Amino acid sequence: QRTADADHYTITQRASTAEILPGVRTPIWGYDGIFPGPTIESRRDRTVVAHHRNELPVPTVVHLHGGHTPAESDGYPTDLVLPKSGWDAGHTGHGMVDARARISDGERDYVFPLRQRAATLWYHDHRMDFTGPAVYRGLAGFHLIRDGEEDALGLPSGERELPLMIADRSFDEHGAFAYPSLDRTLRTTPGVESAYVEGVFGDVILVNGAPWPVHEVAAVRHRLRFLNGSNARRYDLVLDPPPPGGGGFVQIGADQGLLDAPRAHDHLPIAPAERYDVVVDFGRYPVGTEVTLVNRLGTGSTAQVMRFVVARRALDESRVPAKLAEIPPLPREQATTTRDFSFRAGTVHGRAGWVIGGEPFSPDLMSASPRLGDTEIWRFVADIHHPVHLHLVGFRILSRGGHEPGPFDGGVKDTVDLAPGESVEVIARFDGYRGRYVFHCHNAEHEDMAMMANFEVL
Ligand code: C2O
Ligand code: CU
Ligand code: CU
Repeated sequence: QRTADADHYTITQRASTAEILPGVRTPIWGYDGIFPGPTIESRRDRTVVAHHRNELPVPTVVHLHGGHTPAESDGYPTDLVLPKSGWDAGHTGHGMVDARARISDGERDYVFPLRQRAATLWYHDHRMDFTGPAVYRGLAGFHLIRDGEEDALGLPSGERELPLMIADRSFDEHGAFAYPSLDRTLRTTPGVESAYVEGVFGDVILVNGAPWPVHEVAAVRHRLRFLNGSNARRYDLVLDPPPPGGGGFVQIGADQGLLDAPRAHDHLPIAPAERYDVVVDFGRYPVGTEVTLVNRLGTGSTAQVMRFVVARRALDESRVPAKLAEIPPLPREQATTTRDFSFRAGTVHGRAGWVIGGEPFSPDLMSASPRLGDTEIWRFVADIHHPVHLHLVGFRILSRGGHEPGPFDGGVKDTVDLAPGESVEVIARFDGYRGRYVFHCHNAEHEDMAMMANFEVL
């Protein structure tokens, strides 16, 4: 049922190989067989219909992260698209039954109305208990939304706009991705689960699927749309050398779109699934400078992300206006309900795992039921680092550790990284769509080890 008032895409999820390390074919699972998947560019308020065909040997689920999406297309973790060509029993999982699940046979449409501001979104797999291995094998891609408000600003564009998906991977001796489990090993092999309790980390840093790439730039402003697409690794990015005078990262946007005004940073912490939209003016460097994007949280091979070579002068007609976007305030007083959720280690079916409010994820357990249009404050507290993500809504950070939000907490977000022992308050309006959604830790291994919960907009 093709319609002219929507953009239609057909995406085939299939096994393939990619040359990631020189001269080596790495088996991947890719949207259209590539990693990252194809970048989709859309306009605000224009519906996208993504028709996904599953030619992989396992069920899949597609979620548009950051999308303001009706529940039936949000990629609920049990809304499986079964494999088109039969299910490889080597990859099967639990016998979990969810009476509300929407199961599709081999293919389905996901409908994204995109009634939301311009933003850097991404789509990735979201199957219950198996998101970590599926994303690690390659099931992730960018989905950018643009709008007139952003077009009018004159930000760097074209080849001066770079979506950058940062993700770490390990390789085995044959060049295959080394994920420590093919299946439920994380939960069923004694000792393994404790080894990966912090998540799965790689020693090779990929940017858009390439290890430590080098990118030539003109000595002009560039818009870098950072996404941390790693399963578990957090980064703290710096430019080395920093530009004279510092403030090399001029943040213009957060997860859910532009900030009201730009904000300069010397470094940029980014947790799994977070996005930071940043302008770097390479015109502040002499031509010939090599600028390394360094990860201050890494050591050895994980301390470097990529390199920019300032290759030539060029005319720069881009701007970063002092006023970027109109963001309606969402004051604390508008909230009608406050809820508390702890994110901690816990017991999941008798084994070590991660839980929210003491409960491991179950499709049947409803943790919050905001009414459509209600504004609520959600308070999170964590034992170790947990990047907490809400589906459906964007939120504002009201406080962190009992204090004012930090320098990186501005704008509208959908993922917030909690530091060990820290509490964070966020405020969100639950509007647009009714139905069942999830919120979870976006450390993919924590998520698979049950650190997820449901909310239902009534
Ligand atoms: Cu990026 Cu629930 O996911
Ligand atoms: Cu999401
Ligand atoms: Cu976590």
